[in-house]
Amino acid sequence: MTTSDPVDELQRFDPAIPVESATTPPASWYVDETFAEMERRAFREAWVPVARVDQVTAPGVCVTGTVAGEPWVIVRGDDGMLRGFSNVCRHHASGVVTEAQALACAPLEELVCPYHGWTYGLDGSLKRAPRSGGIKDFDASTMGLRPVSVTTCGQFVLMRVAGDAPLPNGLDALVSKLDEMGASGLRWKTRRTFIVACNWKVFVDNYLDGGYHVATLHKDLAAQLDLEGYATECHGDTVVQTCGDSVLYAWVWPNLMINRYGSVLDTNVVLPIAADRCAVVFDWWFAEGVDTGAMDESFESSARVQEEDRLVCESVQRGLHSSAYDGGRYAPRLEHGMHAFHCKLYGALSG
Ligand code: FES
Ligand SMILES: [Fe+2]
Repeated sequence: MTTSDPVDELQRFDPAIPVESATTPPASWYVDETFAEMERRAFREAWVPVARVDQVTAPGVCVTGTVAGEPWVIVRGDDGMLRGFSNVCRHHASGVVTEAQALACAPLEELVCPYHGWTYGLDGSLKRAPRSGGIKDFDASTMGLRPVSVTTCGQFVLMRVAGDAPLPNGLDALVSKLDEMGASGLRWKTRRTFIVACNWKVFVDNYLDGGYHVATLHKDLAAQLDLEGYATECHGDTVVQTCGDSVLYAWVWPNLMINRYGSVLDTNVVLPIAADRCAVVFDWWFAEGVDTGAMDESFESSARVQEEDRLVCESVQRGLHSSAYDGGRYAPRLEHGMHAFHCKLYGALSG
């Protein structure tokens, strides 16, 4: 692992250079833990998709997870409001809502810390700190769970831990476009999470190469697509790749990918774990009336493509560690979406 100054390494990429002449970001962006730490700030200040609206329809139902080292919980209150908090107890920092509780989907009346029983309302306020008699200079009204910002767009629940950044520019238009493509009539079916031994950006880069790798890496998929009709457009904080009228692959800053094809919509959310590791959460929605056989077929071909992508992403990560590589070039007509992603990241980290 290199330990160079991440700010110096950031400046080695110049977003002012057009894609035709640009060099890709240096390998340190992908392998250096200090660079990954700097990115965690950008993740805390970005709106990231953390749940689906259908997961939190009833009061007291929670979802939990971790983004950029920040454990979070989202809960709908008795007043119908969706709220988000750091899932960190104000007593000694234990997680308050457990993953098991969130997975059970049973509504909670209060959020009770499993460690010593400090109890919070669904609005995050501290209601009880059992057996804390004798404590001095303690104002319970300042000891609620720390709030995070939460909003919804289409089916997505998005969260922002810090800052005041607006929602990704272009997300609204994308959700409307997906509605035009029948997305609102689809039903959520299942979720799978994959761990990939690569930097989260390797996964996004692979997604944003404008279909470049499809013909060589995904031969089965290539046979079903008209790759000559593949088009990439950058709109604000989104990159929308289409292949004809009925296939759309869209990326939304920083880590959401939305795929619409046939009777399916699937989303991939990539979450950095460490410089060399990320999790990719897949959710699948299907049109009403699609039978189990067709769904299984779709899962199978998706799993094949995902496995091909995982293997190549892990190969790229090993290559990024090599002394033989310190940055590459873009195929400008195909990879300008990837270049836009790198420029966006540069902006977020230098801000
Ligand atoms: S850490 Fe939560 S009650 Fe002690
Ligand atoms: Fe791929």
